Amino acid sequence: MTIKLRKQTINVLKLLKKKQSNVIANDIAEEMNIDYIVLMSAVNELIEHNLGGFKEEELHQISLNDEGKKYVKIGLPERQLLNIILKEGIKEITLDELLKKSNLDRDIFYIGISNLKKKRWISQSKATGENKIFLIAEDFPQTDLEKVLKKFEENNILDYSKLPKNEINLIDILNKRKLIERKRKTNRILYLTDAGKSIAVSKIKELTQVSKITSEMLSSGTWKNYDLKPFDVTKPGPLLKAGKIHPLINLINEIREVFLSMGFTEIRGPIIESAFYNFDALFQPQDHPAREMQDTFYLNRPMEANLPEKDRVLAVQETHENGGDSGSSGWGYAWDINTAKKTVLRTHTTATTMRRLAQFYRNNEKVPVKVFCVDRAFRNEKVDKTHLAEFTQIEGIVIDDNVTLCDLIGLLSEFYRKMGFKKIVTRPGFFPYTEPSMEVSVYYDKLDEWLEMGGSGIFRPEVTYPWGVKEPTRVLAWGQGLERIAMLYYGRKDMRDFYINPIDWLRQQSYLK
Ligand code: PHE
Repeated sequence: MTIKLRKQTINVLKLLKKKQSNVIANDIAEEMNIDYIVLMSAVNELIEHNLGGFKEEELHQISLNDEGKKYVKIGLPERQLLNIILKEGIKEITLDELLKKSNLDRDIFYIGISNLKKKRWISQSKATGENKIFLIAEDFPQTDLEKVLKKFEENNILDYSKLPKNEINLIDILNKRKLIERKRKTNRILYLTDAGKSIAVSKIKELTQVSKITSEMLSSGTWKNYDLKPFDVTKPGPLLKAGKIHPLINLINEIREVFLSMGFTEIRGPIIESAFYNFDALFQPQDHPAREMQDTFYLNRPMEANLPEKDRVLAVQETHENGGDSGSSGWGYAWDINTAKKTVLRTHTTATTMRRLAQFYRNNEKVPVKVFCVDRAFRNEKVDKTHLAEFTQIEGIVIDDNVTLCDLIGLLSEFYRKMGFKKIVTRPGFFPYTEPSMEVSVYYDKLDEWLEMGGSGIFRPEVTYPWGVKEPTRVLAWGQGLERIAMLYYGRKDMRDFYINPIDWLRQQSYLK
């Protein structure tokens, strides 16, 4: 039977035949300029055909550290000291003088002295009152320690376990003198079996390489004759720079789905809004600070907004002046229709849910009505990491009979739970148009922090009565910040990123939601 092998495997076989003796896998991979994994897969093929194999060998490699390497060149400290003594023809010298001459570190100097004494090449005496050394030998042959040190000149790395006993002792001394580095590693030694050694390469057929297996190959069984081109599944695919949906839009779409799944309908309203819907209908007094130019963008064109039906405008006016039929005493000032006609960039999407409430009145609709709105709002605000002058709110109302604050808490908890925030906390708050009012914070486990998300509450009778929405029908309302959620969602520390659009970050975003 002819043997069929991949081209790479044939090359490995050829090389192993040439080498004859056992060889280290790493060296072969390097010589063939192929990946270690590729080589071992070829070796595995040799094993399958009983042509070769590998065995593992534990290595205990030793080499010199920098200090050791230096001593190979200039000699161990004891030799350096001896060289000074011999060169200058010194017979006796004080330790201090020799230390100065040697330029060695004190510690190393004393190691040198102690080794010279051990060798009995010098002796030390204080007989003269000074601490002196005397040269006492005549012959200073290369020591055994110096001989092993020399071994590293030819071979940077030695295999500790293969050294003879006496050399091992010497290496241990070098090791104690902190001149040695040790490394343990496992080598794979490749070998050919007798069959591998004797087979003629010319007898082996090369498998054709293909990158795909077709159904014909499978049904006819010929796939066995092909060498499947390997591919590395750990390699990243090419970077696709195609267009994709912006992360913020992805998030908005997710929010839409959550509200739709909870039975809500989406509404939208104008960005250019009348002060009437933005403020007056929400029982915000005409001298309220939020209406000031520094908080609100007023528009010159159009200068005036159309107001809704006269009787409703009147109902709002009366509520402001004396409470109308809401049971309130109102703000007690003369309401000005021109102030209500001013045009603004809506400062909150509550203006849009307010319009929905007016529509509820006009169409004489039945409860319940559940609507939401994710849209842009504008405030004359200094822009920084956590504030934008143009931002997005997640707004909504529920018009229904006998609904309570508990329903509102349940609803917002459910919304945030579906968005992936497990815990929310509510605190009393204040808005001119809700009573009671509630601030909402969510717990963000990644930061172990509570983060404020926005306001909510039950619309006051002063807001709902002018539109015929009276007890026991109530309106639950909320307005939350989208960019706040987005920051947590996408781990961005700067809100402006969603509009500045750092290109690298956008490229990292997934194509799918
Ligand atoms: N409009 C408020 C804001 O912009 C939020 C809010 C909406 C509060 C509805 C109560 C009810 O912060």
